[in-house]
Amino acid sequence: MQPLRCVLRVQRALHWGPWASVSRLLLSTCGAHSRLHGTACPGAERQEDGVRKDFSSRLAAGPAFQHFLRNASASEEKPSFPEAEDPPPYLTADELRGRQRKVYLETYGCQMNVNDTEIAWSILQKSGYLRTSDLQEADVILLVTCSIREKAEQTIWNRLRQLKALKTKRLRSRGPLRIGILGCMAERLKEEILNREKMVDLLAGPDAYRDLPRLLAVTESGQQAANVLLSLDETYADVMPVQASPGATSAFVSIMRGCDNMCSYCIVPFTRGRERSRPVASILEEVRQLSEQGLKEVTLLGQNVNSFRDNSEIQFNNAVPTNLSRGFTTNYKTKQGGLRFAHLLDQVSRIDPEMRIRFTSPHPKDFPDEVLQLIGERDNICKQIHLPAQSGSSRVLEAMRRGYSREAYVELVHHIRESIPGVSLSSDFIAGFCGETEEDHLQTVSLLREVRYNIGFLFAYSMRQKTRAYHRLKDDVPEEVKLRRLEELITVFREEATKVNRSSVGRTELVLVEGLSKRSASDLCGRNDGNLKVIFPDVEMEDVASPGLRVRAQPGDYVLVKITSASSQTLKGHGLCRTTLKDSAAQR
Ligand code: 5AD
Ligand code: SF4
Repeated sequence: MQPLRCVLRVQRALHWGPWASVSRLLLSTCGAHSRLHGTACPGAERQEDGVRKDFSSRLAAGPAFQHFLRNASASEEKPSFPEAEDPPPYLTADELRGRQRKVYLETYGCQMNVNDTEIAWSILQKSGYLRTSDLQEADVILLVTCSIREKAEQTIWNRLRQLKALKTKRLRSRGPLRIGILGCMAERLKEEILNREKMVDLLAGPDAYRDLPRLLAVTESGQQAANVLLSLDETYADVMPVQASPGATSAFVSIMRGCDNMCSYCIVPFTRGRERSRPVASILEEVRQLSEQGLKEVTLLGQNVNSFRDNSEIQFNNAVPTNLSRGFTTNYKTKQGGLRFAHLLDQVSRIDPEMRIRFTSPHPKDFPDEVLQLIGERDNICKQIHLPAQSGSSRVLEAMRRGYSREAYVELVHHIRESIPGVSLSSDFIAGFCGETEEDHLQTVSLLREVRYNIGFLFAYSMRQKTRAYHRLKDDVPEEVKLRRLEELITVFREEATKVNRSSVGRTELVLVEGLSKRSASDLCGRNDGNLKVIFPDVEMEDVASPGLRVRAQPGDYVLVKITSASSQTLKGHGLCRTTLKDSAAQR
């Protein structure tokens, strides 16, 4: 379903989150909303008076309620916020356009933020902005931010301090430099950012990127502009992300946004809002286009990919109950119907048999047999599953509200390994969660030893405001203990991963070449099916498709590599031949 129009978005957004509805509306200040609710935006002192007066008078005569009603009844195909050709009454079409101003985008945090950057850029490019990779020549600097841990936010505050100097030193003749905070930190801190760092001109939450041209136009008058409304249906389904590296062999395709799980430590449901899935048809269309462009790998992306549920068409809304993994529960009322992840994965994997399909990040609760079976039987769905455990102690898992015990998790691991022989597993772990004892920690150590993950992401717990843990639990593990436990987990993870990876020595792995190795120009770098980095010499080799012909492998080629050594993070070997995914599967 396409986003509904503005008024509906406002109303629906009110139902979500701990924020009082009034504050949520007031915080979507500037432009339209400031007039509707009688709030003024601070920070107007920077612009010459003439421009400001002209703008302010138009702002005062700004949009009537009718303006939104008009939008509300418009076709669902159109985006929720006015495009350059359709300005709100207080802006001219010209003011909405980028007029060749240069935007510098900087991304922090997870892959979702990389994808969000591509979406934001796609919207701004359409609006007439240019992109620059040179900070010095930027007219607009946008930071796509992360709030998951305190440290991530500290990095942004430090960066803002550096940017302040750039803004102050800027020559008047170049016009003002605008600085914006996008994504999770904008959503979490809202006007606190504007108050704390007066040099920030713009805030846009994860569901407000369509509004960027308008927000930037508002900042032209020297006012601060913010839109931190969360949506129940925004998936940017119609926005084709613009990839930063055009020569890339792989791409991320966003399939859903938000999260309903409410794990007690996690800020994501508060910054990214309710879980919603993008319509299957638009995902398939994007994957088809990427395949036509010659890309060889697609990663389906979302906070909770395997909870995918496309309810966009009435005929999908049957009463089919949801099959969870055995022994798993949800924190929310179980949903029914819709096109589920197994259906999507099936359809996506049929588009191009030479295109590898991955997905991240899933939740262990949504691995019913049909998903596992599909991964097992399709050659181009990678046999790699991210299975975030977070802890090895059932007591801590309960406090985290993960919806499973250690036993249920371990049983799932066995079931996955039986269903998908040779599957590669990765996981996230948090060290030092509220109330974690030494015994709980040792349980996590033992889970790492028992499962033997190929890839691991390990973090020290960082208490986040608004979360259930913040309200109900005590952050009682001292910082030095958290760090010591984290170090221990990292050491154990590495030992085990080295052992698993060493079992690949002597085997032949199918590697998708990404390019030259960063460490040596005489080596190529790529990834095996399990998503592990593989390095091998860039020399001529046989081409399976043209016997007798010797070729040098290029990015996007599949190469069979004989593995000769392994560490906890990398495999090394030598290339045997260039091949195809289909051909190598037939040889197995
Ligand atoms: N502190 C530390 N790690 C966290 N994660 C999520 N919230 C926190 C937090 N408050 C970790 C989890 C999650 C990953 C993306 O980040 O392990 O799976
Ligand atoms: Fe956060 Fe849990 Fe949702 Fe993952 S599943 S985004 S950890 S609340």
